Amino acid sequence: MAGFVPSQQSHTISGEQKDIDLIQTTDENHGEIFPNLPTGKGWMSEHLVQYQGFWLSPKGLNNLMWIQHHFKPRPSDIFLASFPKTGTTWLKALVFATVNRTRYGFSDHPLLTANPHDCFPFLDAYLHENDPSFLELDASPTPRLLSTHLPYALLPDSMIVNRSSRFVYIYRDPKDVLVSKWNFLSKLRPKELPPFSLEEAFELFCQGISHYGPYWDQVLGYWKASSEFPENILFLKYEDLKEQPLAVVKRLGEFLGYPFSLEEENKGVVEDIVKLCSFENLSNLEVNRKSVHKFSRDSLVDNRHFFRKGIVGDWKNCLTDEMIKRLNQITSDKLFGPGLLFDN
Ligand code: A3P
Repeated sequence: MAGFVPSQQSHTISGEQKDIDLIQTTDENHGEIFPNLPTGKGWMSEHLVQYQGFWLSPKGLNNLMWIQHHFKPRPSDIFLASFPKTGTTWLKALVFATVNRTRYGFSDHPLLTANPHDCFPFLDAYLHENDPSFLELDASPTPRLLSTHLPYALLPDSMIVNRSSRFVYIYRDPKDVLVSKWNFLSKLRPKELPPFSLEEAFELFCQGISHYGPYWDQVLGYWKASSEFPENILFLKYEDLKEQPLAVVKRLGEFLGYPFSLEEENKGVVEDIVKLCSFENLSNLEVNRKSVHKFSRDSLVDNRHFFRKGIVGDWKNCLTDEMIKRLNQITSDKLFGPGLLFDN
């Protein structure tokens, strides 16, 4: 099976576990390694640190160091790269279902009982060789499905120089990303930190100070790389996936080396995958309403938080005219590539 064995990573919420919907934010030892990095206000932790132009949590920086020094990519690896809240969960489900479609029937599919993050782990969450999940990573069958929020510029050479592995990148209207991210992190923010307003999140987001941001720089990094290496990086837009899921999934299959045959198309396999991975289906499954996902030893998130509204344009209900104008301006200044802009 490509990806992980889901049952090993699913956790049912019981009793006091119900309140464990936080990502812990230890400062670990980044200060000793990089004592002079600029710091900015954190969304979930007290602060973020700026490393080579991008903002990471202290823990995210440790994870990056681990990846740069220990991760051994395989040529067959399939990476899903994204900025948080751009559609990662959805795309994980679609890639997993596409790559494994001959293994599972749609009536007893692993995605019906496991969250997409259980089937398609975050590379960024692996830290120590004595962590059992690290061993799973090493022992995982080919092709490994791994995801990352890291900007292209921070990926180790071993991941990008080896151009036989494939990356799928997804991006989304930054206005919806901001709204989605603020909602998500407000739910996970440790209770001991003061409340975090949308106005504050907006200001930081515009300044680029958010996990793995500036958002626009991350998008541009992958966009440029995909223009240079189109066989290795597929660049997708959440809004296109919403509008034309069948066409995008067919393209995904082709790109990943798992093209849909005419027979499969006639049998409605693409439709079945789209239906299985739809917001309506996934968000109503028991596993996604009542269980938690364990990203790493100390990082647990309620699965239900990965599914909020799943629509395009919720920003219209949340942002002021002034916020919209400023975000649109930054977007049109920065995302100048053909097809990168959004209807405002
Ligand atoms: P909203 O908060 O706007 O609803 P990520 O997976 O990168 O964390 O992104 C989460 C966003 O994707 C959330 O957006 C979530 O509701 C939406 N989402 C999750 N699953 C989806 C699906 N199957 N189809 C469409 N959108 C989905």
